[in-house]
Amino acid sequence: MTKGGLFISFEGIDGAGKSTHIEGLAHAFREQGRVVRLTREPGGTPLAEKLRDIVLNDGMDAMTEALLVFAARRDHLRQVIEPALAADAVVLCDRFTDATFAYQGGGRGFDLALLSVLEEMVQEIQIAGANLLRQPHLTIWFDLSAEVAAQRLAGARMPDKFEAQSVEFFRRVAAGYLHRMKESPGRFARIDAQCTREMVWQQVLSALRSRGWLA
Ligand code: TYD
Repeated sequence: MTKGGLFISFEGIDGAGKSTHIEGLAHAFREQGRVVRLTREPGGTPLAEKLRDIVLNDGMDAMTEALLVFAARRDHLRQVIEPALAADAVVLCDRFTDATFAYQGGGRGFDLALLSVLEEMVQEIQIAGANLLRQPHLTIWFDLSAEVAAQRLAGARMPDKFEAQSVEFFRRVAAGYLHRMKESPGRFARIDAQCTREMVWQQVLSALRSRGWLA
């Protein structure tokens, strides 16, 4: 089993069912004696949580939305993610930059090239004198069709700004995730999120085990 810091992000359209599996993995890593830092985006620091509240509830154009999520991400990286990785923790992050490419890029149609510029500015880190781009070591993508996700969300709690979007919006978000995965296939584990919760969990476990990160 690896001992160094691990950064794992979890992605998928609203309704894809990430939450219980993130909790399950936190438990599995802790059982192996690892220190786990559970966090989320937008959010994860007091400042970023304030920005989350604004992004999820206030109307704004796509560029404003993109700038706010990257501002939140910058604070989150500096205050939480980088220190945790430096201390060899396992960082389990509910959404990261792929969500920006999927929601602001795919869903809202914001310029992907500009998102890439922001990604490079915000996620640049220095290790041993070299500039690197901080990315998750692994992104677990819960892939679910927009139609099934809409059925699961119907009747759930009060929807936020994104959850209230049309099926067509979520089709574009899902296409945005697929596009991101094709750009970095080695970073992604694509999970078929349409089957039972237990079968989804088995897929999540095998993604971690095949990399030698869980026993
Ligand atoms: P979500 O992660 O689904 O949390 P919860 O299940 O507690 O509501 O909510 C975050 C929402 O923010 C989700 O609809 C996706 C959206 N989002 C963006 O639009 N851009 C981003 O960069 C991120 C991280 C999230």
